[in-house]
Amino acid sequence: MNITQLLDAMWKDYIELNPKALEIYKLFSADNQKVQNDHVAFRTFNHPKVNIDKFASVFTKLGYIKKDNYSFEQKKLNAFHYEHTDPTLPKIFVSELLLEEFSSSLQSTVNSLLENLSVDDISKDNFCISGRHWDLSYKTYNQLKKESEYAAWLSAYGFRVNHFTVFVNALTKFSDLQELNTFIKYHGHILNDSGGEIKGSAQALLEQSSTVAYNQNVQFSDGIYEIPACYYEFAKRYESAPGVLFQGFIAKSADKIFESTNKGQ
Ligand code: NI
Repeated sequence: MNITQLLDAMWKDYIELNPKALEIYKLFSADNQKVQNDHVAFRTFNHPKVNIDKFASVFTKLGYIKKDNYSFEQKKLNAFHYEHTDPTLPKIFVSELLLEEFSSSLQSTVNSLLENLSVDDISKDNFCISGRHWDLSYKTYNQLKKESEYAAWLSAYGFRVNHFTVFVNALTKFSDLQELNTFIKYHGHILNDSGGEIKGSAQALLEQSSTVAYNQNVQFSDGIYEIPACYYEFAKRYESAPGVLFQGFIAKSADKIFESTNKGQ
């Protein structure tokens, strides 16, 4: 699998989970705007089988380079972003839940789910979109959710794209993120307003907004229940030096963006 094939497969898997993203993508491209992605984000656990380095190995194999490290103390997450040598390809943002910082009950639940993963599963090129490899009850999902929305989401969906992010600078129709947000809301989409619709600022070199997650029906071992799936994000970047766009992330903004999966629509 080459990187274009993997990115295509990631997008296909993602719009199945979040059909609203495809609707918004079509609104942009209907105006002859070329939609370029800023980054694609994934969630994993810091378990030795699937930690960031293991999870991202397919991306490093396909030309991505590990860049900056981010820490989210309240949500108990660690993250890295990866950049490709081809700057038109999206950055990859991978976060991992720090299991040792949670209750022994959460740790043993997650460890037992991950026991279902074989070395063969993990070594496949499309592992990052291979979904859930275990049975999960809605009861366990809710127990996990009490401690960590992130743990519950990851246990329910497994390894899938969490969100795609449109690179707003490359869209020709919007002069700023506010204008884009107004356009999206006019077309009936709901934005995550946790911490304000726009996270970050021009001074911080990055502004981001996102839709709230799309609600999906998920098959649990004790029935089908509707839970939040994926959201669509929009990022506008500013120059850190003349002619050089800032390529990193702002932990404080990303912290609020993570909450886009707290509630769905
Ligand atoms: Ni993001």
